[in-house]
Amino acid sequence: MSSQMPQRILITGSDGLLAQAIKALNPAGFELVFLTRGEFDLLNPEQMAGQLDHHKPMVVINTAAYNLVDKCEMERDLSWAINATGPENLAKLCAQRSIRLIHYGTDYVFDGGQKTPYTELDQPNAINHYAAGKLAGERAVLGADAGHLVLRTSWLFGVNPIRPQRSYIHAIIRQALEGKPIRATTDQLAVPTYVGDLASWTFTMIQKQAAGLYHAVNDEGLSRFHWTKEILAAAKQQGVIIEAPSVEPVTTAFFNSTIRRSTYSWLSNAKLTALLGHPLGSWKTGMEAMLRQPLWPEQGV
Ligand SMILES: NC(=O)c1ccc[n+]([C@@H]2O[C@H](COP(=O)([O-])OP(=O)(O)OC[C@H]3O[C@@H](n4cnc5c(N)ncnc54)[C@H](OP(=O)(O)O)[C@@H]3O)[C@@H](O)[C@H]2O)c1
Repeated sequence: MSSQMPQRILITGSDGLLAQAIKALNPAGFELVFLTRGEFDLLNPEQMAGQLDHHKPMVVINTAAYNLVDKCEMERDLSWAINATGPENLAKLCAQRSIRLIHYGTDYVFDGGQKTPYTELDQPNAINHYAAGKLAGERAVLGADAGHLVLRTSWLFGVNPIRPQRSYIHAIIRQALEGKPIRATTDQLAVPTYVGDLASWTFTMIQKQAAGLYHAVNDEGLSRFHWTKEILAAAKQQGVIIEAPSVEPVTTAFFNSTIRRSTYSWLSNAKLTALLGHPLGSWKTGMEAMLRQPLWPEQGV
């Protein structure tokens, strides 16, 4: 019988997509403590300190964030408090207690000026308030302790069993089922990433005691337009839809958004690939796994 105690890991934002994927993964050798926004609020440093002292985790995985890119422009102070100040406070509280913090960043920190995959050494340049807040958050986390880890990811998808879906794949399939016209941008390019893969890489990195900044995305970037076509083809193949409707290619300007978005944020995953010692795999495998599950479990479909 092993006398080794399981490592206790505290996971914030427990109702979110990534936290739910971690719950589903349920890796052996760890004791996972999931806390909701009400139980561990990034806006409440006293509560965070109390929970850290109560649970005494070895690692905190901070999945909590304000992710609605458009709304960040309107709720500027709130989104900054959640994406920048909250992680900064959490990172310091963890550092004071010798707890390692794992935090997630975004591909949106890059402005798209470069046309080859961005590495961890490339200089970010945030072009909207969401990206600026997330960039400030990841810098504060990395600055608080050399043992902290930031994983930048992009176009996360998967099924959240307890929350109505906002994922891009859900939106496209819903439009197809409702017979609505489908338009997708040819001038936004990044790497779709399966949330189950991100959860799994996170735990391998905990075991390897990885620290610093890593890009954590699947292999192979593409445009929203091409991704949309791939989603519809896979959905048809798996019987989720009967026919794959045509997709109209448009540019970002078509949607009349006032928010600036990067046209190219393909993250290179070479550093993480080298750490793990194997390719990270295509998002297509994750998409097929996702399409085999009920897409709207909260509605029983
Ligand atoms: N989704 C993507 O495409 C994407 C892309 C790049 C990077 N990321 C990053 O990846 C990480 C995981 O994203 P995700 O998709 O799992 O996010 P998510 O599904 O939106 O979940 C975020 C969770 O954070 C919680 N939260 C919000 N404000 C909070 C606060 N003040 N204190 C504590 N919890 C709070 C939310 O609580 P409620 O459930 O109560 O609202 C929600 O459960 C985030 O850092 C995100 O920025 C995501």
